[in-house]
Amino acid sequence: MATLGERIANFFNGDDNDTREGLHGLFVTELKNTYYAEKQAIDALGEQADAATTDEVRNAFLHHQDESRNQVARLEQVFQSLGVDAEEGSCDAIDGLADDARAVVSMTESNSLTRDAGLIIAAQKVEHHEIATYGSLVTLARVMGHHEAARLLEQTLEEEKNTDRKLTQLAESFINDRANSESGDMGTMDSDYQRSSDAVRPDGVRYQDSGSTGQTYQSGSSYSGSQMGTGTSVGSSTYGSGTSSFGTGQDATLGGTSGI
Ligand SMILES: [Fe+2]
Repeated sequence: MATLGERIANFFNGDDNDTREGLHGLFVTELKNTYYAEKQAIDALGEQADAATTDEVRNAFLHHQDESRNQVARLEQVFQSLGVDAEEGSCDAIDGLADDARAVVSMTESNSLTRDAGLIIAAQKVEHHEIATYGSLVTLARVMGHHEAARLLEQTLEEEKNTDRKLTQLAESFINDRANSESGDMGTMDSDYQRSSDAVRPDGVRYQDSGSTGQTYQSGSSYSGSQMGTGTSVGSSTYGSGTSSFGTGQDATLGGTSGI
């Protein structure tokens, strides 16, 4: 019986059918799980868009919801290119992340910036999961010579990375905005805090001047500058930080084929 190392070496020499079949099975299973996860993400993005406070966050979610529908169609093309039926698998991770987003909604006040901050965190957790997933799928497709599948999956991977970047920018714009509005005596955030009249939206419009200023922007304690304005929470910059895992990370590669 060959050792794992021997099997890997044989695989890269092209003469280990067992490993090749195993990887193919793994690839198809991961595709099916991702197919399920994308469909769940589409539903979750709709819920999150409905719950969002600001147009900026709502539109970001709706835009990615549309993009995700294309990603589902792209996965169907991948299945087709492999001659495999498109079937949904399962994904506990996306189920849990969707539940986490629902918990954010239930724990935050409607029409609050805290709600949007929490939703961005929840959305970025999904994006990071998807980046890891698609990065790995691209690598598996390349390793097995599924060039069409690799090309399609890489398109989605780039969209997921782009979404993550946009969410970071959006979050940072809120943090900056918040810091601006807290420049007075808002050292501690009270739950009944209302936005000061000089607060400016990310697009430069003062909230009191915009059409949506019937809203009261309240904050919970979790959105204080001391807890969330440091660049490590909302708008996480940890995107792509994985360097040792299989295909995850910002370069969407395996770190060379030695990573298997
Ligand atoms: Fe996504």
